[in-house]
Amino acid sequence: MSIPLPPPQPANQSNINRHHLNPLPPSVFTLPQTAQLEALYTIIRDKETKRGDFLFYSDRIIRLLVEEGLNHLPVVKRTVETPTGTTYDGVGFEGKICGVSILRAGEAMEAGLREVCRSVRIGKILIQRDEETALPKLFYSKFPQDIATRYVLLLDPMLATGGSAMKAVEVLIEHGVPEERIIFINLIASPEGLTTFCTRYPSLRVITGWIDQGLNDKAYIIPGLGDFGERR
Ligand code: URA
Repeated sequence: MSIPLPPPQPANQSNINRHHLNPLPPSVFTLPQTAQLEALYTIIRDKETKRGDFLFYSDRIIRLLVEEGLNHLPVVKRTVETPTGTTYDGVGFEGKICGVSILRAGEAMEAGLREVCRSVRIGKILIQRDEETALPKLFYSKFPQDIATRYVLLLDPMLATGGSAMKAVEVLIEHGVPEERIIFINLIASPEGLTTFCTRYPSLRVITGWIDQGLNDKAYIIPGLGDFGERR
Protein backbone atom coordinates (compact mmCIF):
# COMPACT_ATOMS: atom_id res chain seq x y z
CA MET A 1 0.00 0.00 0.00
CA SER A 2 1.48 3.35 -0.97
CA ILE A 3 1.72 6.09 1.60
CA PRO A 4 0.40 9.38 0.24
CA LEU A 5 2.94 12.17 0.05
CA PRO A 6 2.26 15.20 2.21
CA PRO A 7 1.20 18.28 0.25
CA PRO A 8 3.98 20.72 -0.72
CA GLN A 9 4.84 22.90 2.22
CA PRO A 10 4.20 26.59 1.82
CA ALA A 11 6.69 28.95 3.39
CA ASN A 12 6.30 29.80 7.05
CA GLN A 13 2.87 31.40 7.29
CA SER A 14 4.28 34.49 8.93
CA ASN A 15 6.52 34.88 5.88
CA ILE A 16 4.37 33.85 2.98
CA ASN A 17 2.25 36.97 3.06
CA ARG A 18 5.22 38.97 4.06
CA HIS A 19 5.82 40.41 0.65
CA HIS A 20 6.15 43.81 2.13
CA LEU A 21 4.78 45.15 -1.07
CA ASN A 22 1.11 44.71 -1.57
CA PRO A 23 -0.01 44.55 -4.30
CA LEU A 24 3.09 43.59 -6.27
CA PRO A 25 3.71 45.74 -9.36
CA PRO A 26 2.61 43.72 -12.44
CA SER A 27 6.18 43.57 -13.72
CA VAL A 28 7.49 41.82 -10.58
CA PHE A 29 7.67 38.01 -10.38
CA THR A 30 8.82 36.17 -7.28
CA LEU A 31 9.98 32.58 -7.04
CA PRO A 32 7.29 30.29 -5.58
CA GLN A 33 7.45 31.00 -1.86
CA THR A 34 7.83 27.41 -0.70
CA ALA A 35 9.27 26.10 2.54
CA GLN A 36 12.18 24.68 0.51
CA LEU A 37 13.05 28.13 -0.81
CA GLU A 38 12.62 29.67 2.61
CA ALA A 39 15.02 27.08 4.04
CA LEU A 40 17.67 28.17 1.51
CA TYR A 41 17.15 31.81 2.43
CA THR A 42 17.28 30.98 6.15
CA ILE A 43 20.74 29.45 5.65
CA ILE A 44 22.15 32.40 3.75
CA ARG A 45 20.62 34.94 6.13
CA ASP A 46 22.16 33.22 9.18
CA LYS A 47 25.24 35.16 10.30
CA GLU A 48 26.77 31.90 11.55
CA THR A 49 26.70 30.34 8.04
CA LYS A 50 30.24 29.65 6.82
CA ARG A 51 31.42 30.96 3.46
CA GLY A 52 31.34 27.53 1.78
CA ASP A 53 27.68 27.04 2.67
CA PHE A 54 26.85 30.63 1.78
CA LEU A 55 28.32 30.07 -1.69
CA PHE A 56 26.58 26.74 -2.17
CA TYR A 57 23.11 27.84 -1.07
CA SER A 58 23.18 31.30 -2.65
CA ASP A 59 24.24 29.60 -5.91
CA ARG A 60 21.24 27.30 -5.65
CA ILE A 61 18.88 30.26 -5.38
CA ILE A 62 20.66 32.10 -8.20
CA ARG A 63 20.17 29.09 -10.45
CA LEU A 64 16.43 29.07 -9.69
CA LEU A 65 16.25 32.79 -10.44
CA VAL A 66 18.02 32.41 -13.77
CA GLU A 67 15.73 29.55 -14.79
CA GLU A 68 12.71 31.68 -13.86
CA GLY A 69 14.15 34.60 -15.84
CA LEU A 70 14.42 32.39 -18.92
CA ASN A 71 10.71 31.56 -18.61
CA HIS A 72 10.03 35.17 -19.57
CA LEU A 73 11.79 34.99 -22.93
CA PRO A 74 9.71 34.56 -26.07
CA VAL A 75 9.69 31.32 -28.03
CA VAL A 76 8.76 30.44 -31.61
CA LYS A 77 7.16 27.28 -32.99
CA ARG A 78 9.67 24.55 -33.76
CA THR A 79 8.98 21.10 -35.14
CA VAL A 80 11.44 18.25 -34.65
CA GLU A 81 11.50 14.60 -35.58
CA THR A 82 12.02 12.21 -32.65
CA PRO A 83 14.00 8.92 -32.83
CA THR A 84 10.64 7.11 -33.07
CA GLY A 85 10.11 8.67 -36.50
CA THR A 86 7.32 10.91 -35.19
CA THR A 87 7.21 14.68 -35.55
CA TYR A 88 6.83 16.77 -32.44
CA ASP A 89 5.43 20.29 -32.71
CA GLY A 90 7.26 22.15 -30.00
CA VAL A 91 8.94 25.48 -29.48
CA GLY A 92 12.45 26.89 -29.64
CA PHE A 93 14.10 29.92 -28.14
CA GLU A 94 13.71 33.12 -30.08
CA GLY A 95 16.42 35.70 -30.12
CA LYS A 96 19.77 36.00 -28.47
CA ILE A 97 20.44 36.78 -24.85
CA CYS A 98 23.30 38.13 -22.82
CA GLY A 99 23.98 38.74 -19.15
CA VAL A 100 25.11 42.03 -17.66
CA SER A 101 26.39 41.95 -14.11
CA ILE A 102 26.37 45.03 -11.93
CA LEU A 103 29.80 45.00 -10.28
CA ARG A 104 30.86 43.85 -7.90
CA ALA A 105 28.19 41.71 -6.29
CA GLY A 106 26.47 40.87 -9.58
CA GLU A 107 29.61 39.10 -10.75
CA ALA A 108 28.76 36.33 -8.28
CA MET A 109 25.67 35.56 -10.37
CA GLU A 110 27.57 35.04 -13.62
CA ALA A 111 28.48 31.40 -12.89
CA GLY A 112 24.81 30.57 -12.28
CA LEU A 113 23.88 32.08 -15.64
CA ARG A 114 26.72 30.22 -17.41
CA GLU A 115 25.62 26.90 -15.89
CA VAL A 116 22.19 27.32 -17.41
CA CYS A 117 23.08 29.07 -20.68
CA ARG A 118 26.26 27.60 -22.10
CA SER A 119 28.67 30.09 -23.71
CA VAL A 120 26.40 33.04 -22.93
CA ARG A 121 28.01 36.45 -23.51
CA ILE A 122 28.31 38.50 -20.32
CA GLY A 123 28.88 42.24 -20.04
CA LYS A 124 29.77 44.23 -16.94
CA ILE A 125 28.88 47.57 -15.50
CA LEU A 126 30.38 49.39 -12.52
CA ILE A 127 28.33 52.07 -10.84
CA GLN A 128 29.44 53.92 -7.76
CA ARG A 129 28.29 56.84 -5.74
CA ASP A 130 29.64 60.17 -7.01
CA GLU A 131 31.19 61.77 -3.93
CA GLU A 132 30.31 65.29 -5.13
CA THR A 133 26.69 64.77 -6.09
CA ALA A 134 25.95 61.63 -3.96
CA LEU A 135 24.23 60.22 -7.09
CA PRO A 136 25.03 56.87 -8.72
CA LYS A 137 27.65 57.38 -11.42
CA LEU A 138 28.84 55.12 -14.24
CA PHE A 139 32.52 54.22 -13.79
CA TYR A 140 32.97 51.39 -16.28
CA SER A 141 30.97 49.33 -18.72
CA LYS A 142 31.77 46.62 -21.25
CA PHE A 143 28.98 45.08 -23.31
CA PRO A 144 28.76 42.70 -26.28
CA GLN A 145 28.91 44.99 -29.31
CA ASP A 146 25.49 43.78 -30.56
CA ILE A 147 23.80 44.19 -27.17
CA ALA A 148 20.99 46.27 -28.72
CA THR A 149 19.78 43.13 -30.55
CA ARG A 150 19.78 40.90 -27.46
CA TYR A 151 17.57 40.23 -24.46
CA VAL A 152 19.52 41.28 -21.40
CA LEU A 153 19.51 39.47 -18.07
CA LEU A 154 20.69 42.17 -15.66
CA LEU A 155 22.26 40.63 -12.55
CA ASP A 156 22.39 42.19 -9.10
CA PRO A 157 21.74 40.17 -5.94
CA MET A 158 20.61 42.96 -3.60
CA LEU A 159 18.11 45.65 -4.64
CA ALA A 160 18.34 48.18 -1.81
CA THR A 161 17.56 51.79 -2.82
CA GLY A 162 17.48 50.83 -6.50
CA GLY A 163 19.95 53.60 -7.42
CA SER A 164 22.59 51.40 -9.09
CA ALA A 165 20.04 49.23 -10.88
CA MET A 166 18.27 52.29 -12.31
CA LYS A 167 21.56 53.78 -13.47
CA ALA A 168 22.49 50.45 -15.08
CA VAL A 169 19.18 50.36 -16.97
CA GLU A 170 19.69 53.97 -18.07
CA VAL A 171 23.09 52.99 -19.54
CA LEU A 172 21.65 49.90 -21.26
CA ILE A 173 18.89 52.01 -22.83
CA GLU A 174 21.54 54.50 -24.03
CA HIS A 175 23.21 51.50 -25.72
CA GLY A 176 20.00 50.81 -27.62
CA VAL A 177 18.49 48.02 -25.48
CA PRO A 178 14.72 48.53 -25.25
CA GLU A 179 13.45 48.57 -21.66
CA GLU A 180 11.10 45.64 -22.31
CA ARG A 181 14.06 43.47 -23.40
CA ILE A 182 15.70 43.74 -19.98
CA ILE A 183 15.01 41.19 -17.23
CA PHE A 184 16.37 42.11 -13.83
CA ILE A 185 17.43 39.07 -11.78
CA ASN A 186 17.67 39.66 -8.05
CA LEU A 187 18.04 37.61 -4.86
CA ILE A 188 16.53 39.98 -2.28
CA ALA A 189 14.67 43.24 -2.86
CA SER A 190 13.55 45.99 -0.52
CA PRO A 191 10.00 47.23 -1.08
CA GLU A 192 11.27 50.81 -1.36
CA GLY A 193 13.83 49.95 -4.04
CA LEU A 194 11.41 47.79 -5.95
CA THR A 195 8.71 50.47 -5.99
CA THR A 196 11.10 53.19 -7.17
CA PHE A 197 12.62 50.89 -9.82
CA CYS A 198 9.30 49.62 -11.20
CA THR A 199 7.76 53.10 -11.25
CA ARG A 200 10.66 54.37 -13.33
CA TYR A 201 10.83 51.30 -15.61
CA PRO A 202 7.37 49.72 -15.70
CA SER A 203 7.99 47.58 -18.82
CA LEU A 204 11.08 45.89 -17.43
CA ARG A 205 10.49 42.55 -15.71
CA VAL A 206 11.92 41.90 -12.29
CA ILE A 207 12.52 38.35 -11.07
CA THR A 208 13.22 38.32 -7.37
CA GLY A 209 13.49 35.52 -4.83
CA TRP A 210 12.26 37.38 -1.78
CA ILE A 211 10.93 40.83 -0.89
CA ASP A 212 12.16 41.86 2.53
CA GLN A 213 10.91 44.26 5.14
CA GLY A 214 12.76 47.47 4.35
CA LEU A 215 16.00 49.38 4.61
CA ASN A 216 17.93 50.54 7.65
CA ASP A 217 19.57 53.95 7.95
CA LYS A 218 22.71 52.61 6.21
CA ALA A 219 20.62 51.40 3.24
CA TYR A 220 21.09 47.73 4.16
CA ILE A 221 18.15 45.44 3.50
CA ILE A 222 16.38 44.26 6.67
CA PRO A 223 16.39 41.41 7.68
CA GLY A 224 18.55 40.81 4.57
CA LEU A 225 21.82 38.93 4.78
CA GLY A 226 24.34 41.69 5.40
CA ASP A 227 26.91 42.61 2.78
CA PHE A 228 26.52 40.06 -0.02
CA GLY A 229 29.95 40.81 -1.49
CA GLU A 230 31.71 40.35 1.84
CA ARG A 231 30.00 37.02 2.50
CA ARG A 232 31.00 35.42 -0.85
N1 URA B 1 24.04 45.40 -0.65
C1 URA B 1 24.27 44.36 0.19
O1 URA B 1 25.22 43.60 0.01
N2 URA B 1 23.44 44.19 1.21
C2 URA B 1 22.39 45.00 1.47
O2 URA B 1 21.66 44.78 2.42
C3 URA B 1 22.17 46.09 0.58
C4 URA B 1 23.01 46.27 -0.47
